Amino acid sequence: MDVTFRIRRYNPEIPGQDKPYWQEFSLKDVAETDRVLELMHRIKWEQDGTLAFRRSCSHGICGSDAMRINGRNALACKLLIRDVGEKVQLEPILGLPVKKDLIVDMEPFFDHYRSVMPYFVNNDPIPADGRERLQDPEAQQIFSDSTNCILCACCTTSCPSFWANGQYVGPAAVVQAHRFIFDDRDQAAEDRLNALSEPDGVWRCRTIFNCTPACPRGIEVTRAIGEVKLAIMRGTPKGVINPKDIKVHM
Ligand code: SF4
Ligand code: F3S
Ligand code: FES
Repeated sequence: MDVTFRIRRYNPEIPGQDKPYWQEFSLKDVAETDRVLELMHRIKWEQDGTLAFRRSCSHGICGSDAMRINGRNALACKLLIRDVGEKVQLEPILGLPVKKDLIVDMEPFFDHYRSVMPYFVNNDPIPADGRERLQDPEAQQIFSDSTNCILCACCTTSCPSFWANGQYVGPAAVVQAHRFIFDDRDQAAEDRLNALSEPDGVWRCRTIFNCTPACPRGIEVTRAIGEVKLAIMRGTPKGVINPKDIKVHM
Protein backbone atom coordinates (compact mmCIF):
# COMPACT_ATOMS: atom_id res chain seq x y z
CA MET A 1 0.00 0.00 0.00
CA ASP A 2 0.98 3.67 -0.37
CA VAL A 3 1.06 5.87 2.70
CA THR A 4 1.25 9.65 2.99
CA PHE A 5 2.86 11.25 6.01
CA ARG A 6 2.07 14.84 6.97
CA ILE A 7 4.66 15.98 9.50
CA ARG A 8 4.89 19.14 11.59
CA ARG A 9 8.36 20.57 10.97
CA TYR A 10 10.31 23.29 12.79
CA ASN A 11 13.97 24.22 12.95
CA PRO A 12 14.78 27.41 14.85
CA GLU A 13 18.31 27.47 13.38
CA ILE A 14 17.32 27.66 9.70
CA PRO A 15 15.72 30.81 8.28
CA GLY A 16 12.47 29.86 6.55
CA GLN A 17 12.01 26.86 8.84
CA ASP A 18 11.92 28.80 12.10
CA LYS A 19 8.11 28.86 12.18
CA PRO A 20 6.18 25.57 12.37
CA TYR A 21 5.05 24.28 8.97
CA TRP A 22 3.73 21.04 7.46
CA GLN A 23 5.60 18.80 5.06
CA GLU A 24 4.28 15.75 3.22
CA PHE A 25 6.17 12.56 2.36
CA SER A 26 4.89 9.62 0.26
CA LEU A 27 5.98 6.05 0.82
CA LYS A 28 5.34 3.08 -1.48
CA ASP A 29 5.33 -0.65 -0.74
CA VAL A 30 4.28 -0.23 2.87
CA ALA A 31 3.15 -3.41 4.64
CA GLU A 32 0.14 -3.32 6.94
CA THR A 33 2.34 -4.60 9.73
CA ASP A 34 4.97 -1.86 9.40
CA ARG A 35 5.16 0.30 12.46
CA VAL A 36 4.95 4.08 12.25
CA LEU A 37 8.48 4.40 13.63
CA GLU A 38 9.93 2.13 10.91
CA LEU A 39 8.33 4.31 8.26
CA MET A 40 9.69 7.45 9.89
CA HIS A 41 13.12 5.85 9.60
CA ARG A 42 12.47 5.21 5.91
CA ILE A 43 11.61 8.89 5.42
CA LYS A 44 14.72 9.98 7.29
CA TRP A 45 17.07 7.58 5.54
CA GLU A 46 15.61 7.73 2.02
CA GLN A 47 14.07 11.20 1.68
CA ASP A 48 15.09 13.77 4.29
CA GLY A 49 17.93 13.18 6.73
CA THR A 50 17.10 16.41 8.59
CA LEU A 51 13.85 15.03 10.01
CA ALA A 52 14.35 15.02 13.79
CA PHE A 53 12.66 12.71 16.29
CA ARG A 54 13.63 10.74 19.40
CA ARG A 55 13.64 6.97 19.58
CA SER A 56 15.72 4.29 21.21
CA CYS A 57 14.36 0.84 22.06
CA SER A 58 11.74 0.46 19.26
CA HIS A 59 9.81 -1.84 21.57
CA GLY A 60 7.62 0.36 23.75
CA ILE A 61 9.98 0.32 26.71
CA CYS A 62 12.08 3.51 26.72
CA GLY A 63 9.21 5.97 26.22
CA SER A 64 11.24 8.29 24.00
CA ASP A 65 9.08 8.36 20.84
CA ALA A 66 5.85 9.80 22.23
CA MET A 67 4.14 12.03 19.65
CA ARG A 68 0.70 13.01 18.39
CA ILE A 69 -0.28 10.55 15.69
CA ASN A 70 -3.47 11.51 13.89
CA GLY A 71 -4.38 13.71 16.83
CA ARG A 72 -3.76 11.20 19.62
CA ASN A 73 -0.72 10.70 21.80
CA ALA A 74 1.05 7.40 21.18
CA LEU A 75 4.44 5.74 20.87
CA ALA A 76 5.40 5.57 17.18
CA CYS A 77 7.11 2.21 17.73
CA LYS A 78 3.91 0.59 19.01
CA LEU A 79 1.46 1.62 16.29
CA LEU A 80 1.03 -0.56 13.19
CA ILE A 81 0.14 1.18 9.98
CA ARG A 82 -3.01 -0.94 9.62
CA ASP A 83 -4.27 0.67 12.84
CA VAL A 84 -3.46 4.19 11.69
CA GLY A 85 -4.47 4.22 8.01
CA GLU A 86 -2.99 5.46 4.76
CA LYS A 87 -2.76 9.05 5.93
CA VAL A 88 -0.57 9.66 8.95
CA GLN A 89 -0.25 13.03 10.61
CA LEU A 90 2.61 13.51 13.08
CA GLU A 91 3.03 16.38 15.53
CA PRO A 92 5.09 16.91 18.68
CA ILE A 93 3.32 16.25 21.98
CA LEU A 94 1.55 19.36 23.29
CA GLY A 95 2.35 21.61 26.21
CA LEU A 96 6.16 21.34 26.14
CA PRO A 97 8.49 23.66 24.17
CA VAL A 98 9.40 22.27 20.73
CA LYS A 99 13.14 22.14 20.10
CA LYS A 100 13.10 20.76 16.55
CA ASP A 101 10.49 18.93 14.44
CA LEU A 102 9.04 16.22 16.75
CA ILE A 103 11.51 16.74 19.58
CA VAL A 104 10.28 18.61 22.65
CA ASP A 105 12.12 19.87 25.71
CA MET A 106 11.35 17.25 28.38
CA GLU A 107 12.99 19.19 31.25
CA PRO A 108 9.73 20.82 32.51
CA PHE A 109 8.19 17.31 32.56
CA PHE A 110 11.11 15.88 34.53
CA ASP A 111 11.08 18.88 36.92
CA HIS A 112 7.52 17.87 37.86
CA TYR A 113 8.62 14.25 38.16
CA ARG A 114 11.43 15.18 40.55
CA SER A 115 9.10 17.32 42.68
CA VAL A 116 7.22 14.27 44.02
CA MET A 117 10.34 12.46 45.37
CA PRO A 118 10.12 9.53 42.94
CA TYR A 119 12.39 7.26 44.93
CA PHE A 120 12.14 4.86 47.86
CA VAL A 121 12.62 6.38 51.32
CA ASN A 122 13.18 4.19 54.37
CA ASN A 123 15.48 5.31 57.17
CA ASP A 124 15.19 2.15 59.27
CA PRO A 125 18.39 0.11 59.64
CA ILE A 126 18.87 -2.62 57.07
CA PRO A 127 17.40 -5.89 58.44
CA ALA A 128 19.91 -7.74 60.66
CA ASP A 129 20.04 -10.70 58.30
CA GLY A 130 21.18 -8.33 55.53
CA ARG A 131 18.29 -9.33 53.30
CA GLU A 132 16.04 -7.01 51.33
CA ARG A 133 12.96 -5.41 52.92
CA LEU A 134 10.33 -8.03 52.38
CA GLN A 135 6.79 -7.22 51.22
CA ASP A 136 3.62 -9.27 50.91
CA PRO A 137 2.55 -9.84 47.30
CA GLU A 138 -0.85 -8.41 48.27
CA ALA A 139 0.75 -5.19 49.46
CA GLN A 140 2.72 -4.95 46.23
CA GLN A 141 -0.42 -5.32 44.14
CA ILE A 142 -1.76 -2.05 45.55
CA PHE A 143 0.78 0.02 43.60
CA SER A 144 1.85 -2.56 41.01
CA ASP A 145 0.06 -0.82 38.11
CA SER A 146 2.00 2.40 38.73
CA THR A 147 5.35 0.61 38.47
CA ASN A 148 4.69 0.09 34.75
CA CYS A 149 5.21 3.78 33.96
CA ILE A 150 7.97 4.47 31.42
CA LEU A 151 7.81 8.29 31.74
CA CYS A 152 6.83 8.76 28.11
CA ALA A 153 4.70 11.86 28.93
CA CYS A 154 1.76 10.71 26.76
CA CYS A 155 -0.60 11.23 29.71
CA THR A 156 0.61 14.64 30.88
CA THR A 157 0.74 16.10 27.38
CA SER A 158 -2.80 14.91 26.59
CA CYS A 159 -4.23 16.67 29.66
CA PRO A 160 -6.12 19.93 29.01
CA SER A 161 -5.37 21.09 32.57
CA PHE A 162 -1.67 20.80 31.76
CA TRP A 163 -2.12 22.59 28.43
CA ALA A 164 -3.84 25.44 30.29
CA ASN A 165 -1.21 25.60 33.03
CA GLY A 166 2.20 24.05 32.50
CA GLN A 167 2.89 24.41 36.23
CA TYR A 168 0.37 21.63 36.96
CA VAL A 169 2.46 18.70 38.16
CA GLY A 170 0.61 16.43 35.69
CA PRO A 171 -0.65 12.85 35.73
CA ALA A 172 2.72 11.19 35.13
CA ALA A 173 4.19 12.74 38.27
CA VAL A 174 1.11 11.71 40.25
CA VAL A 175 1.47 8.12 39.01
CA GLN A 176 5.10 8.16 40.12
CA ALA A 177 4.11 9.53 43.52
CA HIS A 178 1.39 6.88 43.78
CA ARG A 179 3.98 4.16 43.23
CA PHE A 180 5.76 5.18 46.47
CA ILE A 181 2.88 6.59 48.57
CA PHE A 182 1.17 3.22 48.55
CA ASP A 183 4.31 1.17 49.14
CA ASP A 184 4.04 0.03 52.77
CA ARG A 185 7.85 -0.04 53.12
CA ASP A 186 8.24 3.64 52.20
CA GLN A 187 8.28 6.41 54.84
CA ALA A 188 7.88 9.63 52.84
CA ALA A 189 4.20 9.45 51.86
CA GLU A 190 3.32 12.51 53.91
CA ASP A 191 5.99 14.63 52.20
CA ARG A 192 4.74 13.57 48.78
CA LEU A 193 1.11 14.23 49.69
CA ASN A 194 2.07 17.67 51.01
CA ALA A 195 3.82 18.46 47.73
CA LEU A 196 0.78 17.29 45.78
CA SER A 197 -1.54 19.43 47.94
CA GLU A 198 0.11 22.62 46.66
CA PRO A 199 -1.91 24.81 44.25
CA ASP A 200 -0.24 23.27 41.19
CA GLY A 201 -0.49 19.76 42.57
CA VAL A 202 -3.03 17.00 42.11
CA TRP A 203 -6.08 19.26 42.56
CA ARG A 204 -5.50 20.81 39.15
CA CYS A 205 -6.76 17.48 37.80
CA ARG A 206 -10.41 17.96 36.84
CA THR A 207 -10.93 14.28 36.03
CA ILE A 208 -11.03 15.00 32.29
CA PHE A 209 -9.81 11.43 31.69
CA ASN A 210 -7.69 12.06 28.56
CA CYS A 211 -4.68 10.64 30.36
CA THR A 212 -5.88 7.06 30.86
CA PRO A 213 -6.57 6.17 27.19
CA ALA A 214 -3.33 7.95 26.21
CA CYS A 215 -1.16 5.68 28.33
CA PRO A 216 0.68 3.14 26.11
CA ARG A 217 1.26 0.94 29.17
CA GLY A 218 -2.42 0.63 29.97
CA ILE A 219 -1.97 2.18 33.41
CA GLU A 220 -5.19 3.29 35.10
CA VAL A 221 -3.88 6.82 35.44
CA THR A 222 -7.11 8.50 36.54
CA ARG A 223 -7.67 5.82 39.17
CA ALA A 224 -4.19 6.44 40.60
CA ILE A 225 -4.90 10.18 40.70
CA GLY A 226 -8.21 9.52 42.48
CA GLU A 227 -6.48 7.38 45.10
CA VAL A 228 -3.92 10.10 45.77
CA LYS A 229 -6.70 12.72 46.12
CA LEU A 230 -8.52 10.49 48.59
CA ALA A 231 -5.36 9.92 50.59
CA ILE A 232 -4.97 13.70 50.92
CA MET A 233 -8.61 14.22 51.89
CA ARG A 234 -8.61 11.53 54.54
CA GLY A 235 -5.49 12.88 56.18
CA THR A 236 -2.39 10.85 56.46
CA PRO A 237 -0.57 11.04 59.76
CA LYS A 238 2.87 9.65 59.17
CA GLY A 239 2.94 5.91 58.93
CA VAL A 240 -0.79 5.21 59.18
CA ILE A 241 -1.84 5.20 55.53
CA ASN A 242 -3.86 2.13 54.87
CA PRO A 243 -4.01 1.91 51.08
CA LYS A 244 -6.66 -0.79 51.26
CA ASP A 245 -9.02 1.85 52.66
CA ILE A 246 -8.59 4.24 49.77
CA LYS A 247 -9.16 2.16 46.68
CA VAL A 248 -11.10 4.10 44.06
CA HIS A 249 -13.73 2.19 42.10
CA MET A 250 -14.25 3.32 38.51
FE1 SF4 B 1 3.55 7.30 29.91
FE2 SF4 B 1 1.56 5.98 31.11
FE3 SF4 B 1 3.71 6.76 32.53
FE4 SF4 B 1 1.96 8.56 31.66
S1 SF4 B 1 1.55 6.92 33.15
S2 SF4 B 1 4.19 8.73 31.54
S3 SF4 B 1 1.36 7.71 29.69
S4 SF4 B 1 3.67 5.28 30.84
FE1 F3S C 1 -5.92 15.66 33.14
FE2 F3S C 1 -6.20 13.08 33.42
FE3 F3S C 1 -6.98 14.70 35.33
S1 F3S C 1 -6.55 14.24 31.56
S2 F3S C 1 -7.57 16.54 34.28
S3 F3S C 1 -4.91 14.42 34.66
S4 F3S C 1 -8.00 12.82 34.69
FE1 FES D 1 11.37 3.17 22.93
FE2 FES D 1 9.31 3.64 21.31
S1 FES D 1 11.42 3.76 20.83
S2 FES D 1 9.27 3.28 23.44
